[in-house]
Amino acid sequence: MCGIVGYIGKRSAYPILIKGLHRLEYRGYDSAGVALINPSSALHIYKSQGKVSALEDTARNQDLTGTVGIAHTRWATHGEPNHCNAHPHASQSGHIAIVHNGIIENYAAIKERLQAAGMTFRSDTDTEVLAQLIEWEQTQHPQSIEQAVRSALKQVEGAYAIAVLDNRQPDTIVSARKGSPLVIGVGEDELFLGSDASPIVEYTDRIIYLNDGDMAVLHSGQMPIVTDLHGTIRQVDVQRVALTVSQLEKGGYEHFMLKEIAEQPTSLRACMQGRVSKDEIRMEEIETDLALWQQARRLVITACGTSYYAGLAGKYALEDLAGIPVEVDYASEFRYRNPVLCKGDILIAISQSGETADTLAAVELAKQKGIPVVSVCNVVGSSIPRASDKVLYTRVGPEIGVASTKAFTAQVTILTLLAIRMARMNGTLTDANYRALVREMSSLPDKVAAVLQQGEAIRRMAEGLSFASNVLYIGRNYNYATALEGALKLKEISYIHAEGYPAAEMKHGPIALISQDMPVVAIATQGKVYDKLVSNIQEIRARHGRVMTVVTEGDTRIANMADATVAVPAVSEALSPLLTIVPLQLLAYHVACLKGCNVDQPRNLAKSVTVE
Ligand code: M6R
Repeated sequence: MCGIVGYIGKRSAYPILIKGLHRLEYRGYDSAGVALINPSSALHIYKSQGKVSALEDTARNQDLTGTVGIAHTRWATHGEPNHCNAHPHASQSGHIAIVHNGIIENYAAIKERLQAAGMTFRSDTDTEVLAQLIEWEQTQHPQSIEQAVRSALKQVEGAYAIAVLDNRQPDTIVSARKGSPLVIGVGEDELFLGSDASPIVEYTDRIIYLNDGDMAVLHSGQMPIVTDLHGTIRQVDVQRVALTVSQLEKGGYEHFMLKEIAEQPTSLRACMQGRVSKDEIRMEEIETDLALWQQARRLVITACGTSYYAGLAGKYALEDLAGIPVEVDYASEFRYRNPVLCKGDILIAISQSGETADTLAAVELAKQKGIPVVSVCNVVGSSIPRASDKVLYTRVGPEIGVASTKAFTAQVTILTLLAIRMARMNGTLTDANYRALVREMSSLPDKVAAVLQQGEAIRRMAEGLSFASNVLYIGRNYNYATALEGALKLKEISYIHAEGYPAAEMKHGPIALISQDMPVVAIATQGKVYDKLVSNIQEIRARHGRVMTVVTEGDTRIANMADATVAVPAVSEALSPLLTIVPLQLLAYHVACLKGCNVDQPRNLAKSVTVE
């Protein structure tokens, strides 16, 4: 939610900031803005409602000189997404500019206090209040910008990642984080700031990850000074990141989402590399702590959105194969409902970004209760892995499309590997079944590639859905989670209302909705509940419902009943969600394209949800 970029060095800051904002646009695209200190120490702020390209139009022909600057792309929390509420926000005197990601929870009380003291406000944002508070601190006691920021931050409650300029100290950027991510890039005589490493890797691979409670003061040509809010210096590690610029680009695809769907054979190989060999599964993260898993009595999975659905798919595999009880909880519910956690529980937190505020809070809650936390994350060095005892990285490279695709299949892959590994440990699988599943895991990338070959058939199926206002997705057992995830994909990028339902629950309510106008997508691959699904599809047909199905290759029985069918290769039921979701990702993608929607940046959403 919101992206921050900063630069201080010898180069012209503006092009670096703009390019950085484009890289961070996945975090929010309600408005964008930039603040620059020019060579005569004048502070210039340019901002615009909408995307970064609109900001570029606004800034054209303006004074864009300066080697120090900060910039922001916004996902609105406080205040409408208009020009006035766009960041950077300036203080009343115009000397100070600030960009902020997060929420200042006690902003209203501070604003009232400052208004009573005569300060005036131009926006509805909590961020402007912080800019004014910093200035207020300076007017009360003459002090440097870093001291004023420190005094102000001691008064605020909530979450923030901030970058602050003061044109009376033109060679300084003050930054700080608490609950929202911020990293520093260390170049040759130049420093960069970013909400993550993506706006920085083009210039340097040397990154400092700030911790919660850190404040960093940046001067050009020097290493940043990192302290806590009391000014105590913290020694920091400069780490090398493996991210490359080509991973951040579309590489010839029309959309990031399509690129990421197409990458899945490769991303699944990367996810399984070193974990799956010809005849066994070895996960270093598990092997080095085997006792923890041997003593586990229950796994509690927590996550949000797509990651939650991955957790639900994982529950079926873990319970079915390894015989271990699994609870799956939305992190936003888990954190506020005083969950009962016992000795022998392991919390598994799943997050692509590693920054989701609710999931991070759930991790912290479990740690307070003394429960070991293992996270399944994609972004290396992000907050959730850093707060966890162990991390199983999904290793699929950056996922930029707001709709999660390759992250989902990798999360399910990790949980399935864990299920097979635990089953081996618990003796709940025969040798032959274990080896067969291991071999099948290795063959999955090729099977996903085979599904991707059917892009044209799926596009035709999409034509049948693009005029619908409501769509029902049904599945059972292992593919109940697929139905939920397929529906989420459609609603978030095509704005068609879609619900995922366990197929047998239809007759307890949703069947009343069935009509010609409400298509049903049924995931009906071979397995324990195949015949039950055939009956569910018949029930829909009997009510003149239109049915589109995902079936196993060679299945003519369901194909003959359906209006349209996509087939996936045969695979053990436990692995089937890894194949059945792929046509549903493509289906949602093509429907969104047919409707002319913005696939990679759907309205109201952001990739990384760092606020509650
Ligand atoms: O980064 P996370 O996996 O923690 O994100 C969780 C959800 O916000 C995310 O999966 C969201 O639901 C996706 N946009 C769905 O495609």
